[in-house]
Amino acid sequence: MKKIIINGQNKLSGTIRISGAKNAAVALIPAAILTDEEATICNVPEISDIASIEEILKFLNINVKRATETMIINPENMENKVIPVEISSKLRASYYFMGALLAKYKHVEMYFPGGCKIGSRPINLHLEGFRKLGAKIEEDGDKYIITADKLKGANIYLDMASVGATINIMIAATKAEGMTIIENAAREPEIVNVATFLNNMGAQIVGAGTSVIKIKGVKKLTKGFAEIIPDRIEAGTYTILGTLLGDPLKISNIIPEHIEALTSKLEAAGANIEIEEDSIICKKSDNLKPVNIKTYYYPGFATDLQQPFSVLLTQCKGKSQIEETIYENRFMHVKYLNDMGADIEIKGMKAIVKGDTYLKGKTVKATDLRAGAALIIAGLIAEGKTVVEEVEHILRGYEGIIEKLSNVGADIKLEEKTCQTN
Ligand code: EPU
Repeated sequence: MKKIIINGQNKLSGTIRISGAKNAAVALIPAAILTDEEATICNVPEISDIASIEEILKFLNINVKRATETMIINPENMENKVIPVEISSKLRASYYFMGALLAKYKHVEMYFPGGCKIGSRPINLHLEGFRKLGAKIEEDGDKYIITADKLKGANIYLDMASVGATINIMIAATKAEGMTIIENAAREPEIVNVATFLNNMGAQIVGAGTSVIKIKGVKKLTKGFAEIIPDRIEAGTYTILGTLLGDPLKISNIIPEHIEALTSKLEAAGANIEIEEDSIICKKSDNLKPVNIKTYYYPGFATDLQQPFSVLLTQCKGKSQIEETIYENRFMHVKYLNDMGADIEIKGMKAIVKGDTYLKGKTVKATDLRAGAALIIAGLIAEGKTVVEEVEHILRGYEGIIEKLSNVGADIKLEEKTCQTN
């Protein structure tokens, strides 16, 4: 068990460079197996979700070479095998191997994926999409057996603009016969990143980034290259932190448009941020005003930034409201923030935050990835020592978080509990 120890209230100055996007990387890598040739992916973050994906690649006998931030994938000798549940349940994105293996072999057997327990997170839209493309699906407990004689293009309307379903269906349809049209598709930048990569390998996809994506099936994909976009959630997390402790703190290597929903709320709260072409400079802002947020699909306010933002709201003078519309269980960090001195009341999918409140260090638990990020921000602004337990969740998604924060002046360290043997 690993924990993070923080001694709070240090001002932060210098630059934090944002890494490649986790949620793009975990989709681009499975997409790479559609070709029989080599694919090179740059700006791959070093996080444990990527280590789990790499474990899957190796299990499938796919050749993987890693150099700093680059992954070269060669699936020439790969085999279609059932990925052991111990590996696939380590992360949500293992579901992208369903679409990729189905496209490549017309047969895939896979277990229900893992990931943060922030809601029920069904995969019915993914499966319905595969069915529309001509696949038959059998369920054997937690395992899905998905088979198709051939995949045929279809019109697929998504009841919800799901990121995962949009990407998975797009991957599966890349090699289907004829045209697939995904309507009410999700519009997240990660989807554009994956579509651009597939097109680079010879796919014919138009409309990614809008709510109608058209995929004309192709027989074969060739060698490919992709550059992963900067992680907009990591960028948003550190921008929020900079607003609370920046002296000044520069967040570099970002695409500001990807976090506009956040920066517009920060501006409304009176935050001291300066947006440049590919960076943001943040200074600690006094007299922050309360603001209300409602999470929504991109370009709305990202649910993944709701938890870090809730910490900022504890420092705003007055009453703010958060409405979570994507996941039913994304307020698990609130109990810990209240233990630290916050005044947050949960009412169903809403939370009322009364500020400003003075936070004091406590022992808290990272129940999920973004809850963990929120508690780190809370620990950094709180007086005294905060111990964040179960930080494995955080290490799944934030590259070098300890190093990045220490480098700008935070007093933070990672501690690994070792078992004593006699
Ligand atoms: N949904 C369904 N059926 C489906 C798929 C989704 O009902 O078949 C529902 C979900 O229960 C949820 C909503 O649709 O209420 C959105 O789910 P979506 O499919 O968009 O989420 P996801 O693909 O499971 C990805 C990210 C999440 C991020 C969401 C929303 C990955 C691996 N995960 O999840 O990232 O919160 O999109 O933007 O890309 C995180 O990074 O901390 C994280 C949870």
